[in-house]
Amino acid sequence: MTPTVRTRVAIVGAGPAGLMLSHLLAQAGVDSIVLDKRSRDEIESTIRAGILEQGTVELLDTIGDFSRARTVGRRHDGIELHVEGEQHRIDFAASVGRAVWLYPQHEVLRDLVAARLAGGQDLRFGVDVEGVDGGDRPRVHARGADGAALEIEADFVVGSDGSRSVVRSAVTGDHQNGYFREYPFAWFGILCEAPPSADELIYSNSPDGFALVSQRSPAVQRMYFQCDPDTDTTALTEHEIWGELQKRVPGTVLQTGPIFQRDVLRFRSFVAGELRRDRVALVGDAAHTVPPTGAKGMNLAIADVRLLADALAALLLDDDERLIDNYPERALRRIWKAQHFSWWMTTMLHTAPDASGFDRGRQRGELRSLVESAAGRAYLSEGYCGWPLDE
Ligand code: PHB
Repeated sequence: MTPTVRTRVAIVGAGPAGLMLSHLLAQAGVDSIVLDKRSRDEIESTIRAGILEQGTVELLDTIGDFSRARTVGRRHDGIELHVEGEQHRIDFAASVGRAVWLYPQHEVLRDLVAARLAGGQDLRFGVDVEGVDGGDRPRVHARGADGAALEIEADFVVGSDGSRSVVRSAVTGDHQNGYFREYPFAWFGILCEAPPSADELIYSNSPDGFALVSQRSPAVQRMYFQCDPDTDTTALTEHEIWGELQKRVPGTVLQTGPIFQRDVLRFRSFVAGELRRDRVALVGDAAHTVPPTGAKGMNLAIADVRLLADALAALLLDDDERLIDNYPERALRRIWKAQHFSWWMTTMLHTAPDASGFDRGRQRGELRSLVESAAGRAYLSEGYCGWPLDE
């Protein structure tokens, strides 16, 4: 007979959302089990974005007195915005009195996994979830690393299992049920061994397309340039990659070095048609996807979880359904703001392949209006640093 494990909350997916949810639930006195089909090593080494909003860092402070995001990560009080070679600084501190932290997502995951294991939480790697039965007594059907079947019976199931979510269809009926937008461009990303090329991140709009000069550490840098979504990462030599990047940031001399990773990031916006059905809910990329330009993905996931943790504690400890009933509406307010912000930064900074002369002129006008106006700079700063989590 298939072994059945009981828990209060079964969390599918050990990304930042799932791990943070289990941490917040444990703090509230609610047991959970986190399942992920990947190994711990895979989870902790997958390279993702590196920008944490202030509210995300404040929440990470709850897993340690002073999180590594603050001690190992670096605070950034602004970005550089380049418009056809003109360099403008967006000063977050002056505009909105907030900041972001450069601290890579895999470091966040390492901190969360270590905190969960140290707290004796049930965290299972190599467990493949095959399906979820919804309703008032939800069940998770899974298969362990040894191939043995496993059933989890829970009071609530949460899908934090990313954009290919297995849990999603238990909430939306159909995996594809939602709102989509595709973009006609992608990012060619590299990791290289080099010192930083500037103090802050550079977002550059140029006639050759967009480039982002980001950072990882004093010795490792992350950079991206706009490319066709079907680009083959092996088709360019290192020399050609540096040429593509450098021509998009005129006026800045890029620090170069050996490239040790290349990838193509496709751009997509998505919001699931529903975020909760009965006793199953979605958070993070299972619920929504944003294009990477505004670095909102992980931050938005953490914001969902903050709401859901309170809602589940009220439901499971006090039998109070009000917060869980409001979860979709409250989460969607922020999700659609972040969708707008990510779409806006993306379309403002990239050059669509079919852009006309009018489109290019209008785009330059938009960028100039932004950098030359205090209100424009404040709007960018506010969205980039993130809206307060209690909003
Ligand atoms: C990154 O470092 O990977 C990164 C930074 C800022 C963004 C997107 C990605 O807007």
